[in-house]
Amino acid sequence: MVRGLPKVELHLHLEGAAPPAFIRGLAAEKHTDISGIFDASGGYRFRDFADFLKVYEAATSVLTSPMDYHRLVLAVLEESAASGVVYSECFLSPDFCGGGDLGAWRDHLAAIRAAADQAERDMGVTLRGIVTCIRHFGPERARRTALCAAETAGDWITGFGIAGAETVAEPKDFLWSFDCAREAGLRITAHAGEWRGPDGIRDTLAALAPERLGHGVRAIEDLALVDELAERGVVLEVCPGSNVALGLYRDFRAHPIAELDRRGVKVTVSTDDPPFFHTDMAREYQALHDAFDWDEGQFRKIARQSLDAAFCDADTKAKIVKLLEG
Ligand code: ADE
Ligand code: ZN
Repeated sequence: MVRGLPKVELHLHLEGAAPPAFIRGLAAEKHTDISGIFDASGGYRFRDFADFLKVYEAATSVLTSPMDYHRLVLAVLEESAASGVVYSECFLSPDFCGGGDLGAWRDHLAAIRAAADQAERDMGVTLRGIVTCIRHFGPERARRTALCAAETAGDWITGFGIAGAETVAEPKDFLWSFDCAREAGLRITAHAGEWRGPDGIRDTLAALAPERLGHGVRAIEDLALVDELAERGVVLEVCPGSNVALGLYRDFRAHPIAELDRRGVKVTVSTDDPPFFHTDMAREYQALHDAFDWDEGQFRKIARQSLDAAFCDADTKAKIVKLLEG
């Protein structure tokens, strides 16, 4: 039942979606030894979230050219299409794509868009980009990232966000960057409520006013905050498999997504960094079905809720809605 359902994914880190075999192949081409990031069966190996971020950045270090990103987008969207994804938004970081330099970022973005156009024609998946600053790289680098985002904002780069180590720096330290992005017309999402609890979510909402939160699941620790999210219509980009793999919750049954949904919060479902967490969208759906008995009607509601919260324009939404209803 689940694989064939049309899906909308809102929270996917492009580099974090790189199949390990793809990264190994690039490393071999470039004679770069990053063998330490792989386990015996060839998957990514990490101990905890801090280690995950290091492995993520080591894997990303072999993505050095626009053509590497072109190939990456095709490899990632092939996986998405196989899971039934028809629309996806991915996080892109000028920090990784060109080291924060605007000209290099434009070159990377052109290659990414060309690959996305090809995938739309050949695989039937539509992709849009959200520029993301990296919290543990600090507010100064975030400013450069925001300027790159503002310069390329439009119908394809539709949003701005923040990822990385949530326990480093405060949301308000990034206010300049978020204001810059907002003034350029970009929609706003922010990772919060993954490694910090309700206070981290409250601080993020107060400082950056995102319309969506990456994760946000730890709102469940404060039911007044859950009510507030429901009333304000803040959308949660929930990545249950990621949360379980990183040890936030014991298993899917212990994950708060179903409770948040019951309490009226707009939840969506995504994979975050699928090969790192041994998941894909079809597996997420299957695990949610197994844990909470979610049926086709519930999954269709989630897909529709996700499309409503997507950052793309109305024409694109009208096209995707037909795929969800077809
Ligand atoms: N970057 C990639 N995956 C992430 C996650 N789960 N949390 C924060 N930053 C990330
Ligand atoms: Zn994420």
